[in-house]
Amino acid sequence: MSATTRASDSEPISSRRNPLVGRLRDLHEPRGRRQQQRLLLEGTHLLQEALRLQLNLELVLATPEWLSCHGALVAALPTVTRLQPATAEVLAAVATTLSPDGVVACGEPPSPAINPSPGFVLALDRLQDPGNLGTLLRTALAAGVEQVWLADGADPYAPKVLRASSGAALALPLERLDHEGLRQRLLGAGAAGLQRLATRAGAGQPYWELDWSRPTVLLLGNEAAGLAEDLAALADRSVTIPHSQAVESLNVAVAAAPLLLERWRQRQQRGAAPAAT
Ligand SMILES: C[S@@+](CC[C@H](N)C(=O)[O-])C[C@H]1O[C@@H](n2cnc3c(N)ncnc32)[C@H](O)[C@@H]1O
Repeated sequence: MSATTRASDSEPISSRRNPLVGRLRDLHEPRGRRQQQRLLLEGTHLLQEALRLQLNLELVLATPEWLSCHGALVAALPTVTRLQPATAEVLAAVATTLSPDGVVACGEPPSPAINPSPGFVLALDRLQDPGNLGTLLRTALAAGVEQVWLADGADPYAPKVLRASSGAALALPLERLDHEGLRQRLLGAGAAGLQRLATRAGAGQPYWELDWSRPTVLLLGNEAAGLAEDLAALADRSVTIPHSQAVESLNVAVAAAPLLLERWRQRQQRGAAPAAT
């Protein structure tokens, strides 16, 4: 039985009171995601990423118009994935975006393999803003980060983070910790010989002076409070991106880009192939 046949077999859901709508809407919130152990993936791009990463997709809900334009994607869905047509009104009720592109999916959270001796770790202390977190994860994936330690803050699987990360949140090995958990990780990283770099606006060594080819943990802090003092105290060095005094600091996701990509730049310059995630 082909996927396209599956789609036409069932009638589109047309009522917002359908129980499936409530179940998928519950995935907007951390509690619903925790209880169901599922994520909501909105839009064609995230569905493509989920398929590329071979995530376990339980359900794809799509408008008839989307289905008629995406035959190849429909055909690529695993047979265990339920394909459910729905009207545009139902799609809009399920999605968090104002103009959904006609498809949402629901699947299990990813479980990428964790490298026990990573060469490049990004550690985030209480990042609150979903847009910042998503943007940062996208850059982290581009920069060859092998592991992300997240102490408290925004849920990396919130729909807005997934969208802002362009799917990078699905591809990166993420570990969610509390403050003490991150402290312990930093102690362990120090014992394992990784250099731990605290980032600060206006204090520390300019980032380009460091040797980023060494195994490294890069620590970034909360949007308002910065990096917690006791975490910064565990770092081997403070690094900074120098800028004018017209601003006190940079947006954390903006600051992350040159810092994360400096390692890539230095390794390219030395002709070493940077570790891929
Ligand atoms: C908006 S800043 C926090 C500002 C906060 N008032 C403070 O005292 O740190 C958020 C994070 O972005 C990073 N950051 C911002 N500007 C930076 C800069 N010029 N150099 C290095 N990191 C920076 C740091 O990780 C910082 O903790």
